[in-house]
Amino acid sequence: MLEPTVSSPAAHEADHARRRTFAIISHPDAGKTTLTEKLLLASGAIRQAGQVKARGERRRTRSDWMEIEQQRGISVTSSVMTFERDGIVFNLLDTPGHSDFSEDTYRTLSAVDAAVMVIDAAKGIESQTRKLFEVCRLRDIPIFTFINKVDREGLDPIGLMDDISATLALDLTPFTWPVGMGTDFRGLIDVPGKRALFAEERGGPLTRIVPFAAPEDLIGLDGVDPRILAESVEGLSLALGILPPFDLDSFREGHLSPVFFGSAIKEAGVAALLAGLGGFGPSPLPRTANGRIVQPEEANVSGFVFKVQANMDPNHRDRVAFVRLCSGTFKRGMKLFNAREKRQMAIANPIFFFAQERETVDEAVAGDIIGIPNHGMLRVGDTLSEGETIRFEGIPDFAPEILRRVLLADPIKAKQLQKALQDMAEEGVVQVLRPVADPAPIVGVVGTLQLDVLSSRLDKEYGVPIRYESVSYVTARWIAGERAEMDRFIDANRFSIALDRDQAPVYLARSQWVLDRAIEEWPKLKFLAVKERG
Ligand code: G4P
Repeated sequence: MLEPTVSSPAAHEADHARRRTFAIISHPDAGKTTLTEKLLLASGAIRQAGQVKARGERRRTRSDWMEIEQQRGISVTSSVMTFERDGIVFNLLDTPGHSDFSEDTYRTLSAVDAAVMVIDAAKGIESQTRKLFEVCRLRDIPIFTFINKVDREGLDPIGLMDDISATLALDLTPFTWPVGMGTDFRGLIDVPGKRALFAEERGGPLTRIVPFAAPEDLIGLDGVDPRILAESVEGLSLALGILPPFDLDSFREGHLSPVFFGSAIKEAGVAALLAGLGGFGPSPLPRTANGRIVQPEEANVSGFVFKVQANMDPNHRDRVAFVRLCSGTFKRGMKLFNAREKRQMAIANPIFFFAQERETVDEAVAGDIIGIPNHGMLRVGDTLSEGETIRFEGIPDFAPEILRRVLLADPIKAKQLQKALQDMAEEGVVQVLRPVADPAPIVGVVGTLQLDVLSSRLDKEYGVPIRYESVSYVTARWIAGERAEMDRFIDANRFSIALDRDQAPVYLARSQWVLDRAIEEWPKLKFLAVKERG
């Protein structure tokens, strides 16, 4: 395993400078879970492999609380894992790999300062990686690239880098480089560390460390297949010759990504990645709130809710809002001001999410994620402050493309259904639309798997079995414009209007053509596909 070369911040540096808040993005199966587990292992947060995947037990080692997730093997919610190494506090925000939960992922990515993009060496860039990368690019999030599974037959490293670079229009520079791949895999060259790491025996851990002045010095080294080593060094020299050198500014602006070849399963390259994250990964970045930039070192506490999760523990019907702190030093017992509700709330029992357990938070700084148990006061997109009415930008709602009417199996449970749907809407699991001319609610989702999750959760967590009925609408748009004009539109289209959970009017269109016509006929109105929360 590589020894990390973390340059720990000096003791006088502010606490927030020691925070690294990041997410891992990948296509399903690329190795995100395995890498997460190995990062936790490398930091000592967990002691043995298998714990991240251990399911069914009550400890929350990862985000998979839901039975449906276990049945389908897809991670459906996002959660937080905090761990520490060499004085750096890492906050890893988990994101669902399945594209049906992309909204959840977008929100989570609004709360990070960096991302690790995991790529399967045999597959290169896959569809979901590409989509998530685009979201990171929109937000200028710096990206680390981890090319996983070099212990398996993969594509040639230079070809892979070429492909990634061309597909994503992203500059790359190698930090670790494989010595052989698949059955030929012998070790890694740690480029900035100027050393190579080899397995003492084939398939074993990379415990043999060989320093070098230039990679070419390695050629002919005892105990490593000369052909494999020569090919690797040659490839690396070529790559270093044609690729741009590492440039911190370019990385921080999201234009250049350091590349770590490795094998999560063999723990190869994992410590190097962690060292990179700790060493030059960004500490909490300034955040844009309406009209001003909030700096992490500001004295007053501010933060925003990027996720709400109800019923995390079925034994305690709790609801937790995940807050990303953006400035100040939060202390337990503090009162924070919710700008949307225009109300103070005392934060009595904030929680931290360590790898294996939750712990009460006494103090937290910018970059940290705290969980605030609440009874529905906090919603996704809410901003908390010490009194200033600010709102952080960047947590949108997306117009759902899949709409279904929700029908109760047992009509007596109408009230429970209403409450349950409200909870689910506040969590952001689905959007709930209430047609003005029909009592049955409509739910809107981006991916059909969300519908399965909703019905399963309504049944299991609320005891409200439902079924879906298709509706004749194909899409929804928020309507915006002058009040009088909106009222005229709503009157003229009563049977196609619903209200969202903020009572904002939504136009349900029966076809794209109908929507296009409405846009043409009502030029003073806007038909919005994205609505900022808050
Ligand atoms: P995901 O969260 O991105 O979906 O991927 P996950 O870590 O679950 O990994 C997907 C599969 O790839 C798993 O195999 C895992 O063991 C394997 N894998 C992950 N990293 C590496 C690696 O570095 N090398 C190799 N050779 N395999 C790797 P599985 O057979 O689906 O599951 P399991 O039975 O091994 O748990």
